[in-house]
Amino acid sequence: MHHFEYRQGELTCEGVTLRDIAAQVGTPYYLYSRATLEHHYQVVDTAFGTIPHLTAYSVKANSNLAVLGLMAQQGAGADIVSGGELFRALKAGIPADRIVFSGVGKQDQEIAEALAADILMFHVESRAELLLINRVAEREGKVARITLRVNPNVDPKTHRYIATGLKESKFGIAMDEAIDAFVEASTLPHVRVVGVDQHIGSQITEAGPFLEAVERVAELITRLRAKGLTIDYLDIGGGIGIPYDDHVPPSPAMIADSVLPVLKSLNITLILEPGRVIAGNAGVFVTQVLRVKETGEKHFVVVDGAMNDLMRPSLYDAFHRVLPVVEGNQPEILADVVGPVCESGDFLAKGRKLPTPAEGDLLAVMSAGAYGFTMASNYNSRPRVAEVIVDGDTFHVVRQREGYDDLIRGESIPWP
Ligand code: LLP
Repeated sequence: MHHFEYRQGELTCEGVTLRDIAAQVGTPYYLYSRATLEHHYQVVDTAFGTIPHLTAYSVKANSNLAVLGLMAQQGAGADIVSGGELFRALKAGIPADRIVFSGVGKQDQEIAEALAADILMFHVESRAELLLINRVAEREGKVARITLRVNPNVDPKTHRYIATGLKESKFGIAMDEAIDAFVEASTLPHVRVVGVDQHIGSQITEAGPFLEAVERVAELITRLRAKGLTIDYLDIGGGIGIPYDDHVPPSPAMIADSVLPVLKSLNITLILEPGRVIAGNAGVFVTQVLRVKETGEKHFVVVDGAMNDLMRPSLYDAFHRVLPVVEGNQPEILADVVGPVCESGDFLAKGRKLPTPAEGDLLAVMSAGAYGFTMASNYNSRPRVAEVIVDGDTFHVVRQREGYDDLIRGESIPWP
């Protein structure tokens, strides 16, 4: 459920029309709904409410400070993958003891920063990283709480770029090496094993892969405990899929129902790392039509937003619904919605039926709240767009649109 709907022919977010926001902040812009973000957080958190758990919002999905601030207010933790995300999460008021650090390439400096902040735990991705964390913690006079991320070799049945729990992926420690790695970790003086971690992929639209992964890891936990290791936490990562089109994947409650019996029997504190399911349908990308171009073959609706602003269609061939911000009754055309970037791969939508747009019309690219702005770049020297959040009948610009000066910040010409 989200708070974007047509009222009297105008697409609105909570109590504000997207057209009014465009008139004041210009286009393109990202728009988030506070009520939807809060609602989605609650849906996930209450789905697992019958066992001790921490919902650690995955910062990479949408890392705007205002979004993180809302998560902090809701009592969320954070799943981070860099020193930059740690900085943001702490700035937004997410307590360090609710922060978990994931990612395959943690660096010395980032580990030191996370130890200084006293985060809840590091998810270790390899033996080499285990030894590095132990060394850094020794140098800093600390003991790092850790889990090892295991790779359960489960097919999450999602896009191959975002499947992470298969054998051939770069993530985690293979199941058959896991016991040895845990035993080794338990002998190191500057790390303390507190649990097991896994994350099998993103945009998973069936409950089956979650259950399969949890069953595999449950077996591992039983074996680790038999060896005398203390396993207090199980982090099952993120990955809950959302509807982008007409297909409605199982809700967080349905996924919870399928895995909770196994989790309950384990007597652990569960950690969840949801990103997309909280932010995805809480945001849209609003862009303006520059012109409609007709080649002999087809129609192109050229808009002011592009692949540098919203990369998902170009990178994953991802489908995002495109809706007119103001409903009209023009005849429909079949068109590609494309941006001004100089690449044929620069499109937001392909082969869509749209009411014939006119120059200046606004289009909303739906389900763009997760992995939208966070993956944006300045390609083609395009300033990054504004981010706006609606709160009931008002809205706030929570990131200013960049200007040309932002494009060259830090650059210089070394010759006189
Ligand atoms: N935890 C870990 C360790 C992750 O790697 C990820 C996402 C998450 C949690 C959050 O997953 P979510 O709940 O959002 O599915 N850019 C891609 C998605 C990449 C996901 C990377 N890892 C996209 O636009 O679809």
